[in-house]
Amino acid sequence: MGNVNLSVNFGGVPLKNPIVGASGTFGYGIMYNRFYDLEEIGGFVTKGLSNFPRAGNKPPRIFETASGMLNAIGLQNIGFEKFVKDKMPVLRGVNTAVIANFFGATVEEYAQMAEKLGNVDGVAALEMNISCPNIKEGGIAFGSDVKLTGTVVKACRKATTKPLIVKLSPNVGDITEFAKACEANGADGLSVINTIVGMAIDIRKREPALSNVTGGLSGPAIKPIALRMVWQCYKSVKIPIFGIGGVVSAEDVVEFIMAGATAVQVGSMNFVDPYICKRLKDELPEVLSDLGVQDINEIIGAAHSL
Ligand SMILES: Cc1cc2nc3c(=O)[nH]c(=O)nc-3n(C[C@H](O)[C@H](O)[C@H](O)COP(=O)(O)O)c2cc1C
Repeated sequence: MGNVNLSVNFGGVPLKNPIVGASGTFGYGIMYNRFYDLEEIGGFVTKGLSNFPRAGNKPPRIFETASGMLNAIGLQNIGFEKFVKDKMPVLRGVNTAVIANFFGATVEEYAQMAEKLGNVDGVAALEMNISCPNIKEGGIAFGSDVKLTGTVVKACRKATTKPLIVKLSPNVGDITEFAKACEANGADGLSVINTIVGMAIDIRKREPALSNVTGGLSGPAIKPIALRMVWQCYKSVKIPIFGIGGVVSAEDVVEFIMAGATAVQVGSMNFVDPYICKRLKDELPEVLSDLGVQDINEIIGAAHSL
């Protein structure tokens, strides 16, 4: 059991294991050092960064649902400069993959962020968020139009040589069209999926529970949808995929990998159990060993034999 190989290569980014903290649920990584050594996990993705700091939407902006949660944070973040000045000096001393998530309001802004973050020493890869359902001016406007997706990915590709991962929206008709547009325009990997648009009503106030009216649904409630989309993307493109959506157990990790993911990202469950990423990494070898698997790479897409 001790010698099960968990290391994978994600589009040029070596990960010591396939467990990665998801954007928006892992801060800028450093705070998780309070719970366990960040070097235990494959890596983490930063909160979505913009050129300038953002305060996000006004509260209430999170709401608990059955087996999940809705959020409409609105991409609150500390901005590029503060990230580089305050967070990166600490993160450079941590031996784990730091993936910088970013977004912009225009194609030019996306490309500018890709260039700036791409030049930051210690950033292993970039994750473009073109799928945030909670802001008007950026994100989803790009991620729900195949042509715009192609244009913005192409512009970012030109702007950086760092591994470029695109985070796709599940709020589209056919996700494979978007996956193909990313691959054709130079993306090195995909993150599948971001949150699914939903809402809740406060029945006493007779109004939506979130100030933004709608929010993004995440957590175990969305896992079957995320798995289906990872499966579809794996069939459509050759670039590696991060499986994201409701990961709770080592068995969930194996499911995503058999559906075609090379690694997974763990989001909302970090709020329930801040130790979850380390626990999944610790439990994975036994689950794999029970399945007769010595190397996790053997089972990427293994469920596609039909
Ligand atoms: C509170 C919160 C904030 C998030 N912020 C971001 C973000 O800034 N950028 C991004 O790409 N995804 C963001 N996400 C989406 C997650 O990274 C992830 O794709 C989604 O929650 C599904 O995974 P899960 O079911 O494990 O939570 C956020 C999710 C939550 C719950």
